Amino acid sequence: MADEAYYPGLEGVIAGETALSTIEDGLRYRGYSIEDLAREAQFPEVAYLLLYGELPTSEELADFQSILSESADLPGPVVDLLANLPVHAGAMDILRTGISACGHFDPQADEHDRQANINKAVRLLGQIPMLIAARYRTTRGLPPVTPTGELSFAANLLQLITGRQPDATAERAMDVSLTLYAEHEFNASTFTARVVTSTGSDLYSAVTAAVGALKGPLHGGANERVMAVLEEVATPDNAEGWVRRALSSKRRIMGFGHRVYKTGDPRADILRSYCRELAERRGDTDLEEIADTIERVVRDEKGLPPNLDWPSARLYHYLGLEVELYTPLFVASRVVGWAAHVIEQSESNRLIRPRSRYTGPAPRNIVPLPERE
Ligand SMILES: CC(C)(COP(=O)(O)OP(=O)(O)OC[C@H]1O[C@@H](n2cnc3c(N)ncnc32)[C@H](O)[C@@H]1OP(=O)(O)O)[C@@H](O)C(=O)NCCC(=O)NCCS
Repeated sequence: MADEAYYPGLEGVIAGETALSTIEDGLRYRGYSIEDLAREAQFPEVAYLLLYGELPTSEELADFQSILSESADLPGPVVDLLANLPVHAGAMDILRTGISACGHFDPQADEHDRQANINKAVRLLGQIPMLIAARYRTTRGLPPVTPTGELSFAANLLQLITGRQPDATAERAMDVSLTLYAEHEFNASTFTARVVTSTGSDLYSAVTAAVGALKGPLHGGANERVMAVLEEVATPDNAEGWVRRALSSKRRIMGFGHRVYKTGDPRADILRSYCRELAERRGDTDLEEIADTIERVVRDEKGLPPNLDWPSARLYHYLGLEVELYTPLFVASRVVGWAAHVIEQSESNRLIRPRSRYTGPAPRNIVPLPERE
């Protein structure tokens, strides 16, 4: 191709249009700044905004939440399937299988109109916390927790996993993290969902594929690796030496850098204050001191700011959650963004099919099999 435009990793390429979110002037979902949403709204309102286009009225929110709690039940065969998958299988792999399996029991699985897609999105939003908790508790020999329908989405999610009702600070911190994770324009997993949708495939296929993309350590999987970094550093005294050694050996520090935020990820700034509050409440701010030192050095040495996964790992740790839950919790929120993109893509579809630059052998003739050496 004579006039070919090639941008490795599609960096800087506008690959489609969206009305869902923009990162042009801070992060905004459908026009609302992420700071305002994190402060003024709860995650279910944000989910409603992304799926329906507007923030809900109190009545609309109440209806949405009751549909959400009614859809939370998992089909019995899915519960059995989760319990029988190999114990060593990772939580993201299990969640990917669980979401795919739920699709077999959804009567609207192959309906592609807007309302069917919203119904499926709401069902998945209700079922994903159950999938995460069911697997987590079964593999630890813990009894399942039955959702009561009286708790907020964030409190219910925490209670389903830990078996304990969180206090107001923990509930709020979890809720804000869900809001911040909900949507982020054409990131890798969302783009995956849009590619799948663009072929005319269904929402469950798109979301299942998106979970696979999110799992990678350069994307959602980073939040789990951040905790490994903090554990490796162990004490505030070690932080400066550790990070200088890591950078001089060209090690990639998980939770830093971003393809599109080069000066700072606004979501990380919001979550940092919640981390500090939770740490002070525990009376142990060591992880905050470690994180502050690493942030300072990575900024000074590489000019790289932290991304959302940097504080979210500490936040989930303070909430008493095990590391293997961190990326699945990202799914519990981002499923809303994926579903909204599935709806948007299918309503204004064009098959996503880019070109590649060929780097293989020049044209050549086949040597018949008997003559090949
Ligand atoms: C997110 C990420 C993949 C974006 O990367 P990208 O836009 O492709 O940028 P590149 O990988 O080309 O990196 C550009 C430079 O910054 C460096 N860099 C980027 N992220 C880095 C990190 N986390 N730690 C150390 N160096 C990093 C690269 O080594 C490279 O340096 P060089 O030019 O000296 O070789 C990358 O920053 C990363 O791997 N971060 C860690 C994983 C993570 O936190 N992911 C969650 C994203 S929300």
